[in-house]
Order: sequence, then structure tokens, then C-alpha cells
Amino acid sequence: ASRSTSSENGHVHLLNDAARGIRGERVPVWFMRQAGRSLPEYRKLRENTNMLDACLTPELAAEITMQPVRRHGVDGAVFFSDIVIPLKIAGIDVDIKPGVGPVFGRPVQSAADITELTSHTLEDSPEIREAIGICVQELDVPVLGFGGAPFTLAAYMVEGRPSRDHLGARALMHADPASWDRLMTWAADITGRFLEIQIEAGASVVQLFDSWAGSLSVADYESKVLPYSKLALERATVPTIHFGTGTSLFLEQMASCADVLGVDYRMPLDEVARRVPGKPLQGNIDPALLAAPWSVLEEHIDAVLAAGRAAPSHILNLGHGVPPTTDPDVLTRIVSYVKQTL
Ligand code: CP3
Repeated sequence: ASRSTSSENGHVHLLNDAARGIRGERVPVWFMRQAGRSLPEYRKLRENTNMLDACLTPELAAEITMQPVRRHGVDGAVFFSDIVIPLKIAGIDVDIKPGVGPVFGRPVQSAADITELTSHTLEDSPEIREAIGICVQELDVPVLGFGGAPFTLAAYMVEGRPSRDHLGARALMHADPASWDRLMTWAADITGRFLEIQIEAGASVVQLFDSWAGSLSVADYESKVLPYSKLALERATVPTIHFGTGTSLFLEQMASCADVLGVDYRMPLDEVARRVPGKPLQGNIDPALLAAPWSVLEEHIDAVLAAGRAAPSHILNLGHGVPPTTDPDVLTRIVSYVKQTL
């Protein structure tokens, strides 16, 4: 009776299979940012603990990772952590400010700043190993690991905080190409190591988030960003998902270095499938529609699923993270809809 819905239905391998291009009896579903603020049980657990401490307390991180699996019956458990956690473990002065995002003690801008930064290394993390170990042992669904892509990490580190156009990072890559190479090589190494640790601990799929790559030109993406995302993804020994937002100008390039292309909500999956033939796709319910009447959302889900049939396999997800204000029952309803109708 304590077994998950997934196991009862014999769907343990749906997500791992889909990530390898194998279409199972139905489309697997999970949600980016499923672990977190949309859940009252999350807010309760987090009451007296700041974000980064919660990520580094194994029992807490494991419990938060498992909450959405229990509540929604999703087919995968994305590890509760953050893209800046490997930086924190490496001793970088970084915090996550509620309502703001990652904030650094000192922005990384000059060649000397980058020399200081790159003296930090990530060897190992017993906390992460333990947290993922608990999840793998307790859950019947795969645990997804993740990391921030080098550019998205650099966009935060150069500005020292969230920014709109990531001008600092986009200027640095041209103003001082040698420093940019050192910064990006270091970021690829640290996020690659973070992926490795999660995989060694039992994560069976990993996703690289390049949330801010949409600010780049095609030329800059190809020459100044993609090589480093490749370096990070090459460290993974399990299927990889490469996700960006606003990246429709260079989907082919993003798809070239991962097993699955994660697609945001801006372009229908059948159009993407024509651009990257043979590539498994993940996505792309528009998060804005989570707040629409069910009939509207249902029609949208049907369209996403129909468009996803153009790909060899499809992992149903949102086109970006769950908005904090989302009614969790809507997510549960999506999961049961997918399980019933397919
Ligand atoms: O997907 C999941 O459920 C797993 C956990 C996860 C978090 N962050 C937890 C988190 C994942 C995969 C991330 C990745 C992440 N972190 C990204 C890439 C994905 C994306 O959304 O584009 C980025 C850009 C970050 C950096 C970051 N961390 C931001 C922008 C914020 C929000 C700041 C705010 O309060 O508005 C965070 C904090 C954060 N990371 C929270 C969670 C649950 C909120 C912390 C809280 O509860 O206050």
C-alpha cells in the first residue's frame, strides 16, 4: 500500500525510457519547480530554515524532493537543490534572497576576480549524496539531478545578482575573451561535478538549465556558450535534458549536446520536432495556463500531447517552472488526466 502510483501501474521506467527515445504506453510527466513554493507542506517545512541551509540538510532536501511525488504522483522526482548550491559548497559567498534570487558577496568582473573565483573547487558533497540516496531508496520513480548551465551561472556571478539583459556577462565575453574562457571553463567544471555527484548518488536523468541563454545572439551562443555547456553535459553518464528559455533561434545547437531537448512554452513541439528530427522532446505546457479554467487548460494539454507525437518520445512538462501562486490541485489534476487518457 505504501508503493507509489507509478509502481502500481508498472510505469517505473517511463521517464528513463522516454529520455532514451523509447515511447512507452503513456507519456511520463513531471514539472520543473515541482518541489517548492506552490506546496503548503513545503512552506511549512521551510518555515525556520533558509533556502541554502534547507538544500544542504539531507533529510530536509530529501523530504522536499519527495513531497510532490506523493502529492501529485509525478513520474520523476527532481532533486530539491539550486543551481548555485555547487558554488556555495565550493566556498563562494552566495545566498538566495527570497523574492530576488541568487546574490553574491562580490561580483566576478575583473581578471583578478576570476583568478580568485577559480581557486575554489568542488570536491564532493556528502550532503547531496545522502539526500539523493534517501530519495532513491524511498521512491519508485527516478530521481532527476540538475545543474545550471555555465552561461546562466556566469550571468549571475558577473552581475552579482539577477539582471534583466545579462549585459555584464555578454559584455565580458567580448571585452576579455581569455577571462571569459577561464570563467566558463570553471563554471562548466563545477556544474559538471555537481551532475556527477548526483549521478553517483543515484540520479538516473539529469537536466542542464540554461534559463538566461535566450538573451544571446546565435553567434555568441555558438562560440561563447555552447562549448562550455557541452563540457558540463559530457560529464553525465545518464540521459541528459538540455533546457533553455527564449532559445528558439538555436534549438538545433542546444539539441546537439544532449539526449533530450527541453522546450519552453513559446513554440509548439511539432515545429520543434521538424527542426530536430529524431530528438526526444520535453515540454511545454504554458505555466500561465495553470491559472486558467480547467477546460482551457485541458484543451492546451491535448494540443501539447498531440504536437509531442511528432517526436520519437515526449516527456510532458511545463514550458518553465511552476509559478509559486499555482494551486497544487491543478498539477495533481494534470497528472491524473495524463494517466487516465493515454
Ligand atoms: O525544480 C525543482 O522543483 C527543483 C528545485 C530547483 C530550485 N531551483 C529550487 C528553488 C531547481 C531545479 C532550481 C533551478 C534554478 N535556480 C534555476 C533554473 C530554473 C529556472 O527556473 O529557470 C534558476 C535560474 C535558479 C536561481 C534561483 N533560485 C531563482 C531565480 C530563485 C527564485 C528567487 C525568488 O524567491 O523569487 C531561486 C530560489 C529557489 N530555488 C526557490 C526554490 C524552491 C525558492 C526558495 C523559496 O522557497 O523562497
